[in-house]
Amino acid sequence: MLASERELPVSGGPGKRTYVREMFTAIAPTYDRLNRIISLRFDQRWRRSAVRRLGWERHPAGVYLDLCAGTLDFGATLARQPGFAGRVVGADFVPAMLRLGRRKAARVAPVTADALELPFPDASFDGAMSQFGLMFFSDRAQALREMIRVLAPGGRLAIAVWNSLEHTPAYAAEVALLERTAGPAAADAVRAPFCLGDRDELEKLFTECGAEDVTITTQQGLARFPTIRSMVEAELRSWLPVRGITLSEDRIQQILEEAEEALSTFRTGNGTVLFDSPAHIVAAVKPKKAN
Ligand SMILES: C[S@@+](CC[C@H](N)C(=O)[O-])C[C@H]1O[C@@H](n2cnc3c(N)ncnc32)[C@H](O)[C@@H]1O
Repeated sequence: MLASERELPVSGGPGKRTYVREMFTAIAPTYDRLNRIISLRFDQRWRRSAVRRLGWERHPAGVYLDLCAGTLDFGATLARQPGFAGRVVGADFVPAMLRLGRRKAARVAPVTADALELPFPDASFDGAMSQFGLMFFSDRAQALREMIRVLAPGGRLAIAVWNSLEHTPAYAAEVALLERTAGPAAADAVRAPFCLGDRDELEKLFTECGAEDVTITTQQGLARFPTIRSMVEAELRSWLPVRGITLSEDRIQQILEEAEEALSTFRTGNGTVLFDSPAHIVAAVKPKKAN
């Protein structure tokens, strides 16, 4: 049996919450570096686009929530906007992630908090944002309702999620490679972050949770890796192990060899890998009057 054919530990509920926390605690030391390797300068486009949709200019001295703040890059992007005079609370349930971002911007305060039970009173924020976190929640509707609860009436939400795998062809090719060489559990682990790509489902989720004026903008972005090997190795040696999947060294070497052919379309003239990696930015408003 391939190691990757083992069952993933949990599929939902409180068990998944503990599992996701452990997974991001394990990945924290390499996350920041990985993030930069993955996106180099390009991730700025997703962040800037989401910050624009927050409409913070209406309350430049306000208090803003960055949920699933990770290493605080998204909150720091808001804090550094010319004219921003407010504060950002960067909330995440993995302290090790928050610690890595401590010195990124003076106006960003890290707070350890679980998205499903936010430790903030009702209506305490002028706006709330989150980048690439919603996909990992065991109960997405509960997390969205919590975000809306802590927003002031009329306050805006801006949330970024990855578009689907079919719009991210390099990862689709990697998933197909893993399906063939490492089994369905390994392929599913790489598929997971792309699970909220369907715009209709996304809109329905926000509307059902009580948000108004929901708009979804698809923001193009490019991801770049130094080589095919570094891209696939990041999944095999970092992401899969934190998802409970450990492959043998022989299997890793076999997959890395096959990846050179399977992903060759995305290799540029100088050997780097460059591919489309679009994200949806969902903007919405908390109703002024309770529904
Ligand atoms: C992919 S990272 C995104 C980090 C950051 N927003 C970025 O764009 O670089 C997802 C983050 O969500 C956090 N997270 C996942 N589930 C959470 C929960 N229930 N409560 C708080 N944070 C959570 C993880 O700890 C992790 O830091």
